[in-house]
Amino acid sequence: MKLSEFDIWMRREAEAVEAALDNWVPADAPAGLGMAMRYGVLDGGKRVRPLLVLAAAQAVHGAHAAAMRAACAVELIHAYSLVHDDMPCMDNDVLRRGKPTVHVQFGEAQAMLAGDAMQALAFEVLTPDDDPAMPAPLQARLCSLLARSAGHAGMAGGQAIDLASIGRPLDEHVLRDMHHRKTGALLQASVLMGAACGHATAAQWDALGEYGDALGLAFQVVDDILDVTQASATLGKTAGKDLDNNKPTYVTVLGLDAARRHATELRDKAQAALARSGLRDAAWLSLLADKVVERES
Ligand code: IPE
Ligand code: IPE
Ligand code: MG
Ligand code: MG
Ligand code: MG
Repeated sequence: MKLSEFDIWMRREAEAVEAALDNWVPADAPAGLGMAMRYGVLDGGKRVRPLLVLAAAQAVHGAHAAAMRAACAVELIHAYSLVHDDMPCMDNDVLRRGKPTVHVQFGEAQAMLAGDAMQALAFEVLTPDDDPAMPAPLQARLCSLLARSAGHAGMAGGQAIDLASIGRPLDEHVLRDMHHRKTGALLQASVLMGAACGHATAAQWDALGEYGDALGLAFQVVDDILDVTQASATLGKTAGKDLDNNKPTYVTVLGLDAARRHATELRDKAQAALARSGLRDAAWLSLLADKVVERES
């Protein structure tokens, strides 16, 4: 099959992200911690968030070196969230990215510490002492965007709602809020961190924020759908886990067909926001929105 220009760009950037992460995640952290960190971060994952950072940076003609740091920082936060999400005290999963989960491989305490260390490393990557691509105001801006999306108002807060919702029928409003926080916030931050690496007008910034907001929610709606429609071998994680764990999802709350329609509506909303931005170099962002909704894993 002939690869499109977009496929070639994705492959090239995913390889560059892999090489940068390989360089930044230390093998020699004490007492095997480095091995657990590298196991959880490297060699796996679709790298959707880094690609969003890099595509957004490209749309606003941002510096690639800064965007690569932002891309890796977001992926480190995401990978940490997966390590903790899989632990027995949370979703209790044994398979991730086609491999045994970090706690299965290294034990629960090491998995917890690996997640903690990945989170700190994300902010280390954003705050180098000696990189001309990373002036202090940009470092502060990127740290602020990432911290707010990962913490109580974003991912961690959403995960708390998720765990408090087990076995409870949620109305769509609460479900949307949970999904926005636990998954949407970090995807939206990916887009905005990319935009922060270049020059966006206030109107473009707002439009990119709306694009990220719709796309971020769509991502988790599709994750809920794939949990019931795909096999573990395709997903690289345990299929049917939401039902097993008695989690309210877009599929249990709306039904499969309505959940699919909703994902498409959110994709259209993201595309409309992108069109409103007037950015001429936003083709990759547009194609990434399609990919998020059409993906099979
Ligand atoms: C899975 O994210 C967890 C969610 C937030 C839905 P991804 O589907 O991006 O997982 P990887 O990074 O490709 O493994
Ligand atoms: C995960 O949601 C959201 C995170 C912040 C990690 P899920 O629990 O649905 O993610 P998967 O399906 O295990 O990847
Ligand atoms: Mg979970
Ligand atoms: Mg999970
Ligand atoms: Mg899921």
